[in-house]
Amino acid sequence: MSQRTLVLLKPDAVQRGLIGEILGRIERKAGWTISALEMRTLDRSLLEQHYAEHVGREFYEPLVAFMSAGPVVSMIVEGERVIEGVRALAGPTDPIAAPSGSIRGDFGTITRENLIHASDSEESAEREIKIFFPGIS
Ligand code: CMP
Repeated sequence: MSQRTLVLLKPDAVQRGLIGEILGRIERKAGWTISALEMRTLDRSLLEQHYAEHVGREFYEPLVAFMSAGPVVSMIVEGERVIEGVRALAGPTDPIAAPSGSIRGDFGTITRENLIHASDSEESAEREIKIFFPGIS
């Protein structure tokens, strides 16, 4: 089943020089393609839309501060079961609990600074793609 998903390489991944490492893992999956790609620093209003479900959580304000502190790489990735697949490559939210071989397990230690975001469902993917790539339908 071909799908598309919204992937973000968070400011920690960009600042640490891990764009190529992470992009390479995505590109090497058979049949997956990156169909849109952009690097920019995100503003608060975009992050408020993206993280609407987390408003009011104790980690929300530090998360918005972190996510707006430096450039992010945003992309649309398309391919077979890519929603589940990129989340499997990423590993669970807490990098210490993430297995070796996953992006978070190999490179992360702090839950907030967990390197990568990937949409968790087809509905989230369509919502998030509209936020980050409003010109792409
Ligand atoms: P992600 O799953 O991409 O989207 C929500 C983000 O909030 C998550 O990655 C982390 O960056 C951050 N986050 C989630 N839970 C916590 C937490 N308990 N403490 C700090 N940050 C968190």
